[in-house]
Amino acid sequence: MTSDIFIGGGGPDYGVKQHLSLGYANRHGLVAGATGTGKTVTLQILAEGFSKAGVPVFLSDVKGDLSGLAKAGTETHKLHGPFTERATQIGFTDYIYEAFPVTFWDLLGEQGHPVRTTVSEMGPLLLARLLELTEAQEGILNIAFRLADEEGLPLLDLKDLQSLLVWIGENAKALSLRYGNVSSASIGAIQRRLLVLENQGGTGLFGEPALALSDLMRCDAQGRGEINILAADKLMASPGLYATFLLWLLSELFEELPEVGDPDKPKLVFFFDEAHLLFDDAPKALVDKVEQVARLIRSKGVGVYFITQNPADVPDDILGQLGNRIQHALRAFTAKDRKELRMAAETYRENPAFNTEEAIREVGVGEAVTSMLQRKGVPGIVERTLIRPPSSQLGPISKKERAEVMAASDMSGKYDAPVDRSSAYEILKKRAEDAAVEAAKAEEEAEEGSPQLREFNAARRYTGGRVARSTSRRGKTRQSQSLGGAVATAVIKELQGTTGRRIVRGILGGLFKGR
Ligand SMILES: Nc1ncnc2c1ncn2[C@@H]1O[C@H](COP(=O)(O)OP(=O)(O)OP(=O)(O)O)[C@@H](O)[C@H]1O
Ligand SMILES: [Mg+2]
Repeated sequence: MTSDIFIGGGGPDYGVKQHLSLGYANRHGLVAGATGTGKTVTLQILAEGFSKAGVPVFLSDVKGDLSGLAKAGTETHKLHGPFTERATQIGFTDYIYEAFPVTFWDLLGEQGHPVRTTVSEMGPLLLARLLELTEAQEGILNIAFRLADEEGLPLLDLKDLQSLLVWIGENAKALSLRYGNVSSASIGAIQRRLLVLENQGGTGLFGEPALALSDLMRCDAQGRGEINILAADKLMASPGLYATFLLWLLSELFEELPEVGDPDKPKLVFFFDEAHLLFDDAPKALVDKVEQVARLIRSKGVGVYFITQNPADVPDDILGQLGNRIQHALRAFTAKDRKELRMAAETYRENPAFNTEEAIREVGVGEAVTSMLQRKGVPGIVERTLIRPPSSQLGPISKKERAEVMAASDMSGKYDAPVDRSSAYEILKKRAEDAAVEAAKAEEEAEEGSPQLREFNAARRYTGGRVARSTSRRGKTRQSQSLGGAVATAVIKELQGTTGRRIVRGILGGLFKGR
């Protein structure tokens, strides 16, 4: 069995083969370099290598140029000449063109099978980040999750969260007594942020059938790892959604996968393109979580590779954990560039044959300064490596070809149609309707009833929320007098009735739960 992945040729005349060791591939990696220096092709050949070694891959396709992985390269391709020349130069004697098993995914459900998760699986911390909430607003969101949990209201899609927020708004007074200030301004702000998320395409992301992680960890009949490609070109217009989704995926993987220590080869390799988006303006708490996820997910056999233009984009604590590095050329125009270049160079184990800093500045397109983890997980001496050419097609496949791959996939049909089962929205709506019916009935009965009974029935009407109120025509003053008490009783009653029922699963597990 292969124990490593061929990445290119180093040493004098690029004749010395360079490998990424599969046993250390779960110790993460970095692919960096200025624009046009070869990062995407490097990602492509790494994905090919992992797939061949039976390791499933997940990657985001930011520019739409990685779909070519699904198709073999050809002798008629304009780069056939340079590719074969390069292969000869680095001693890549068994270089062939071949296609790889690819599954296309798309949060927007257009260019791939839809990827969905539920609101409760996303959890309040990531959702707050996604919605860019303030601390006070995040507080309300936490209350919403708590209530959903205690009341048995599944939060699946955005409608569920929206209707729960409406319900919280209507019962703000009573809830404030229990949880502290529940301000309508904060609720309104969250509702507005949810609208923005909807406009960004967030509606499709939340709901069912939710993605089963095992579907990202498949191998084909020949034992090759499936390459899961997330269409991210349109998604890039909503960087927050993009980064939060990928972070969610990582934390779910962390939560669900068993401990494996240091396996012979990773269970899954995750490529995080445009990784700087994860860290731009990120609060320290979030960066700490990413650092923690990266550190811990290793023992679950998941290797995470960050792809970014400049290694300085990645916080030091995280950079320090990225053991396998492929550094394409960096520019050094300004004093700041030069400083960052020097710092990047200092993190490598020097090679007496050349100066690392100069090499990072000088390497050509498709060439990189590389350092891979070696025996005992020690970083290898830095090499100037000519990266191998891809076996699959360079550049995207056509729309038609993509549709064919999707239709032939065993994921076809599994996620394509959304399912809308009864959850918070439907439950609250039904409750409100039932309450309205009861209130109307009670009102009629109350015509002849005692004053106490009349008041009781009028108050009851409120527990159902919106519909009850909008359909009530009479007894306004009576209702408002007894509102506070009646709602408080109703809420407490319901809470007592459902305590211990845990339906909000994984508010990002051990990591994201305890904040
Ligand atoms: N390993 C390689 N073998 C052969 N050619 C390569 C290799 N890497 C890069 N090239 C050539 O360089 C071009 C640019 O590479 P690539 O698209 O990977 O750059 P990039 O760093 O991803 O750029 P951007 O930042 O614009 O996305 C490729 O289209 C290809 O022609
Ligand atoms: Mg690129």
